[in-house]
Amino acid sequence: MLDFNFYVTTPRLAITYLNPGNESHIAFTLELYKNYTTIGANGKPERSIPDRAAAIDLLEGRATQIETTGYGRYGVSLLPPSAEPDEDMAKRVENATPIGLITLNLRGPDTPPLPDIGFNLLTSARGKGYATEAAKGLMDYYDREKGVTELLGYCGSDNTASMKVLRRAGFELLGERNIGSLMTHVSIKKNGQRHALLVWIRGLKKDPKEYGL
Ligand SMILES: CC(C)(COP(=O)(O)OP(=O)(O)OC[C@H]1O[C@@H](n2cnc3c(N)ncnc32)[C@H](O)[C@@H]1OP(=O)(O)O)[C@@H](O)C(=O)NCCC(=O)NCCS
Repeated sequence: MLDFNFYVTTPRLAITYLNPGNESHIAFTLELYKNYTTIGANGKPERSIPDRAAAIDLLEGRATQIETTGYGRYGVSLLPPSAEPDEDMAKRVENATPIGLITLNLRGPDTPPLPDIGFNLLTSARGKGYATEAAKGLMDYYDREKGVTELLGYCGSDNTASMKVLRRAGFELLGERNIGSLMTHVSIKKNGQRHALLVWIRGLKKDPKEYGL
């Protein structure tokens, strides 16, 4: 069982596990995915996470993933200002407002064997530096606690905001790559137009070719 009291903080943010038993995490999940659709059995688009039960299901699955693999999705929450200089950090984390996700994913056998970073903020939280701050916070944590320093980033060639975050977080652009299992969800836009998949690297100790890149 994950310890849902776990947290890492940055100056403005708390990075935590997403808890299927926490009402603010459930409400945040519904808000984040409100415009996400999949094609239903009748061939029409339907919401991927339509209700509370689906949100809890998603959070439970993600909690199991992180518990069993050590990689996955973390919640990013905005810390409230401290009421007193010596206010307990755990209390501030408990009262923080969820604004997004930060992920380190280790994917299947048909992808390079290094974790990749990802981010997704509620629209209202963008343009304030939170994604970059969260990425740096999570990377520092993996470096410090797990010795993980070799990282990748993937994004579609049209995703300017994502590229800027990756650059600010210290990634270098390696170039376009065709990685089968990532092509559908990273490089194809909703309107069906295809964009290249860009691969970014940070801290690699060997030639990227040795990782299949
Ligand atoms: C990708 C995504 C997370 C980027 O969010 P973002 O808010 O633009 O990124 P940051 O948090 O790093 O914020 C940087 C911006 O905040 C501005 N900013 C404002 N106050 C700031 C502060 N105090 N500190 C740092 N930056 C600040 C920066 O100038 C920068 O603006 P710019 O991009 O116009 O130059 C967001 O667009 C998103 O969630 N997109 C949908 C999901 C997605 O595409 N994910 C990536 C899949 S590969």
